[in-house]
Amino acid sequence: MNVVVGVTGGIAAYKAVGVVRALVLAGHEVHVVPTEAALRFVGLPTWEAISRNPVTTSVFDDVSEVRHVGLGQRADLIVIAPATAAAIAKLANGIADDLLGTTVLASRAPLVIAPAMHTEMWQNPATVANIRTLRERGGTIVGPADGQLTGADSGPGRMSEPDEIVAAALAVASGSSAAGSTAGASSSSTGDLAGRRVLVTAGGTREPIDPVRFVGNRSSGRQGVALALAAAARGADVTLLAANLDVAAPTGVRVVAVGTAEELRRAALAESPDHDVVIMAAAVADYRPVEVATAKIKKDDQGDELALRLSRNPDILRELTAARRAGQTIIGFAAETETNRDAQLALGRAKAERKGVDLLVLNRVGWTEGFAAETNEIIVIDAAGGIVAEATGSKASVADRILDLVS
Ligand code: CTP
Repeated sequence: MNVVVGVTGGIAAYKAVGVVRALVLAGHEVHVVPTEAALRFVGLPTWEAISRNPVTTSVFDDVSEVRHVGLGQRADLIVIAPATAAAIAKLANGIADDLLGTTVLASRAPLVIAPAMHTEMWQNPATVANIRTLRERGGTIVGPADGQLTGADSGPGRMSEPDEIVAAALAVASGSSAAGSTAGASSSSTGDLAGRRVLVTAGGTREPIDPVRFVGNRSSGRQGVALALAAAARGADVTLLAANLDVAAPTGVRVVAVGTAEELRRAALAESPDHDVVIMAAAVADYRPVEVATAKIKKDDQGDELALRLSRNPDILRELTAARRAGQTIIGFAAETETNRDAQLALGRAKAERKGVDLLVLNRVGWTEGFAAETNEIIVIDAAGGIVAEATGSKASVADRILDLVS
C-alpha cells in the first residue's frame, strides 16, 4: 500500500519516526511529507533513511512530475502525525500552501490524523470545530492521549503512541474503522472517552402477537450502531443492547441481543449502573399485545376483522433517569413526524422534561426519512430545552457530533 505520512511541526515529530518505521516494516511504500517546521524537530536525512524514499517539503522540487498531485493521487492512505493545532486548522479549511497541504487536497485517500498539542489548544473552540469538520468529512482522529505534555503540565493533548496510530491507520485503510463504515471498532486507550463505559440501545423492539407475528416499528438500528462504534473509536468501553437490528452487529463492542421492550428494559436496568453514559437510541414499542396466542392465529377463526388489544409498556428511559447514579449522563432520542420546526422543538422540550434526560436528540421521521436512511438530521436539546447542537450527515458523523457533547 502507498502511504503518505505528513509530519507537522511539533515535538512529537520524534515519535512519528516510529510510525514511519512500523509502516515500512509492515511492507508499505511510505512517502514522508514533513512541513518546514517539522524539519526543525527531526531532520530530512532521518525521514529519508527511515522511509527509504526521497523527501522534500517543497512543491517546487520535481516540478516535472507535479509532485503533490503524484503523491496525492497515488496514496492509498494519508496519516498526519503529529498534527499540530495549526495543521488541523489548515486541513479543515483546505489551505494548500505547502507540499503537505497540496498533497492532501489532491488525494481521495482516507485521512488519519493524530493530534498533538497543549490541552488548552486542544480544547479551544476553534480546534474543537476544526476536528468536527474533519470528522464530518470522514477523517479519523486518533487520540490525543491524556498524559504528561512537553512542559511541566499534563492533560489531553499528548500524541498517541506510534503502534496505536499505525493500528488505527491500517484499520481505516482496510475499511474496518468506525469512521469509514459500520464494520467494526477497536476500543482505544487514549480517545476522549477512554476509560468511560457507554451503554447504547439500538434497533426496534418487537412485541409478539403469536409465535410468528409481532407489533414492531421501522427502526433499523443504524444510528445506535454508529453511536456504539464511534464511542468505541473514542476509547469507551461499549455495551450495545441490540433489538432486532437490520444491520450487522458491530465487532469491538459487547453486544447483548434483546427482542421485546420488557427484555430491553430488564437488560438496560441491569447494565445501566455499570455505565457512565447511557444513550437510549432504540425505538421502544409503547404498547404490547395483552394476550400472546400460543399457536398461530388462523383467519378462519377470526373473520374479516381482527382486533388486537394492547397494553402500555413501561417507559424504560424514565426508569433509567429515576435510578440515575451520581455523575451518570443519560441521553434520549425523540423521533417525531411533526414537520414544523417550532412544534417539533416544543414536543422535544416537553419530552426532555418528562423523561429527565441530560440531552435529547430530536430527529424527524417519516415514510422515507429517519429510520432506514443512511443519513440523519438532528437537533440536540439539553435538560433546560436549549438547542446545543444541530447536525446533518451520515449517521457516523451525527454520532460523532452527539459524542462531542457527551465528551
Ligand atoms: N423510550 C423508552 N421506553 C418507552 C418508550 C420510549 O425508553 N416505552 C425511550 C426511547 O428509547 C427514546 C425516548 O424514550 O430514547 C423517546 O421515545 P419516543 O418514542 O420518541 O417517545 P415516547 O415516550 O413514545 O413519547 P410519545 O408517545 O409522546 O412520542
